Amino acid sequence: MQELAALIRAVPDFPTPGVLFRDVAPLLADAAAFARCIDALAEPWRASGVQAICGIEARGFIFGAALAQELHAGFVPLRKPNKLPPPVVAVDYQLEYGSDRLEAQNEALKPGERVLLVDDVLATGGTLAAAASLVDRLHAELIGASVVIELVAARGRTRWQGSKPLHSLLRY
Ligand code: PRP
Ligand code: HPA
Repeated sequence: MQELAALIRAVPDFPTPGVLFRDVAPLLADAAAFARCIDALAEPWRASGVQAICGIEARGFIFGAALAQELHAGFVPLRKPNKLPPPVVAVDYQLEYGSDRLEAQNEALKPGERVLLVDDVLATGGTLAAAASLVDRLHAELIGASVVIELVAARGRTRWQGSKPLHSLLRY
């Protein structure tokens, strides 16, 4: 895991002053590291019977789609507002300043389908909690979530439903 951590760039004051941004681009650009990352993300879920992976726009698409291939699951994008053709279900959630919305297509998941959520970063947990609500709204079965990076100080884990596993590869 240390080789992966070495490929995550810490960028001070991006996108706003005072934020230390964790940039996964160097990891994605390294073929061996990207493959190792997908393998590590897949590990806890190999016997889980996951049927669909929901990846969160935008960087959750990259990890989520690769993981879906690895786990022989389908991929479903959860998107920012007004990107998906209707009909859609939407969930609003709070950001540190302001709010945002995630959407899924109504028919994207089948009732009872076993779903894993994937994103690059867990910060305050608002995004992942909204994604979990969307899965609920579509009557699918959430089995858990995986992120590459958990920003521990932002305490996102406290907003996650405790009964389902939430895995992170790297913690800062
Ligand atoms: C980032 C990150 C997660 C979310 C985590 O996405 O990729 O999706 O923030 O933050 P939270 O835990 O506080 O909700 P961003 O909104 O920057 O979108 P992007 O991937 O489209 O750049
Ligand atoms: N990197 C990427 N996405 C993020 C971060 C970060 O450091 N913080 C919140 N979302």
